[in-house]
Amino acid sequence: MKKLFALLLALAMVLSLAACGEKTGSTPSESTNPGTETTTGGETDKPGEGKTVAIAMPTQSSERWIKDGDNMKAQLEALGYEVLLQYAEDDPQQQVSQIENFVAQMVDCIVIAAVDSGALTTVEAQAKTAGIPIIAYDRLLMDTDAVSYYASFDNKGVGTAIANYIVDAKDLEAARAAGESYTIEFFMGSPDDNNAVLLYQGIMEVLQPYLDDGTLVCKTGRTSFEETCILRWSQETAQQWCENYLSGFYADEDLDIACSAFDGFSYGIRSALEGAGYTEANWPLITGQDAELMAVKNIISGKQTMSIYKDTRLLAEKCVTMVNAVVTGSEPEINDTETYDNGVFVVPSYLCTPQAVDVNNYEELLVDGGYYTAEELAG
Ligand code: BGC
Repeated sequence: MKKLFALLLALAMVLSLAACGEKTGSTPSESTNPGTETTTGGETDKPGEGKTVAIAMPTQSSERWIKDGDNMKAQLEALGYEVLLQYAEDDPQQQVSQIENFVAQMVDCIVIAAVDSGALTTVEAQAKTAGIPIIAYDRLLMDTDAVSYYASFDNKGVGTAIANYIVDAKDLEAARAAGESYTIEFFMGSPDDNNAVLLYQGIMEVLQPYLDDGTLVCKTGRTSFEETCILRWSQETAQQWCENYLSGFYADEDLDIACSAFDGFSYGIRSALEGAGYTEANWPLITGQDAELMAVKNIISGKQTMSIYKDTRLLAEKCVTMVNAVVTGSEPEINDTETYDNGVFVVPSYLCTPQAVDVNNYEELLVDGGYYTAEELAG
């Protein structure tokens, strides 16, 4: 069986090399990234010609992953790659099967944004044995040596940005000096996502002192990661928790701050608040992450206060340079070789910078930056 596999592998490699040779200098390039092309005798050669990249995405239930998938597919196709793009709808087993299939098809590279970052070790090992490189996209792949590179945003920085926004918007320094306090509840990310842990650390590094001295009061007492993390980033769970918190702990006093780690949570929190009779007069500060279209509309209408803008075009671009590098045997640009220890080794990473977005800067960041059109936001 192993021999047969090795034989097929060798055959596939010979065929792919042959295909690569045949297509040299074929069609003129439409690439948006001229730095990754080579020109031979006046003709342009796309690095991806004859190669297939598989992308395993977590879910279509959240807009950001759809944008991530679309951006990456478009950028890879512009470089000549054939792209297989699949979503696992937050089912870890479905994602395992999808990746097993990619391995069986002997694709040239697999990009993975994991549903459960620790549940893929066996299939990742299979990819490695088959000689297929893996890039971790946005979420670190844990407990494996099969991953070559990691492209993400500064995930602790996301938490820091959310917390700093709260400190400034509520002027917690002034509140502390005046002996005043604000109530706050936390809605943190999925425990099987390393990003969620880092985000929580970033938040608490800034907010813990205010919790300790009573400037921030968490009436449920749920402040640890274990008590506030929400499996698979479920909007429904966030709404349910918020409903329970409001009825159980906030009958006599308003909730001032909902510290949410994800726009999806913020939609659930909004519904819970509306259900509990909150209005413009006592609407709390609500944070979020991803600057999804609906979140930005909510920011404009005042139903959400801020979000974290992560330009998925930029992340896709960084990931595509990593794909090109592993496929062509070159070195991609890396800006972090210390932070992302996956339990087996520190994965070389490129981290993009997240930005806080609110009603004051959304036009400049998102509209002028070409992320959304004014029409999309008005509609
Ligand atoms: C991503 C966030 C996203 C969350 C839920 C995290 O891994 O970094 O941008 O909001 O997953 O989809």
